Amino acid sequence: MKITYLGHAALAIEVAGKRLIVDPFISPNPLANDIDVDALEADYILITHAHQDHIVDVDSIAKRTGAKIVSNYEIVTHYGNLGFEGHPMNHGGSWEFDFGRVTYTNAIHTSSFPDGSYGGQPGGFLLETKEGNLYIAGDTALTFDMKLIPMQCQLDFAVLPIGDNFTMGYESAVIASDFIECNKIMGYHYDTFGYIEIDHEQAKEAFSKSGKDLILIPIGDSVQV
Ligand code: NI
Ligand code: MN
Repeated sequence: MKITYLGHAALAIEVAGKRLIVDPFISPNPLANDIDVDALEADYILITHAHQDHIVDVDSIAKRTGAKIVSNYEIVTHYGNLGFEGHPMNHGGSWEFDFGRVTYTNAIHTSSFPDGSYGGQPGGFLLETKEGNLYIAGDTALTFDMKLIPMQCQLDFAVLPIGDNFTMGYESAVIASDFIECNKIMGYHYDTFGYIEIDHEQAKEAFSKSGKDLILIPIGDSVQV
């Protein structure tokens, strides 16, 4: 499994020969200037919640690639009304896709579309695949529900928000990594706006004090799980 950081909370994942894009917010992000949205390939677009900083490029990518949208019922219905194909889910539900099993997990956050319309309840994704198990937390506070994840599967890798203010910060993310019983954590949802700028060295130190590794990669770079 290959995970590429597209900036903010956007990821590209290659697994089982399929290409997944998560929460594309690329074209308005000056830090992601080097990413060409029009060149991204996608079989699926996974959306954690309806906030603008997670959906801005969904329409253009879905239109160009025909990618199937995977999210909560309300978000998939929203895109269905615009003519896009999707697969609706809700919290705690799992589905076997052709790349692996996806569970829509709990997140403590909000979820409205940019026009204020209801975007369902926010979530995250658990991906169980033959190439490894990955948890993408989405925008969330630290929550005890994270303890349920290692009861379902042993994680190989997790992506957690660390930017604070709108989500948990890196100190809470250290506790989250204990809850999910995972030592390989990639941080996301940081530095994009003034509210979420962080000191990278302090964030890494908070993890290393707990014997854990916080992976912060430049936008456009990839990690192999
Ligand atoms: Ni959000
Ligand atoms: Mn966000």
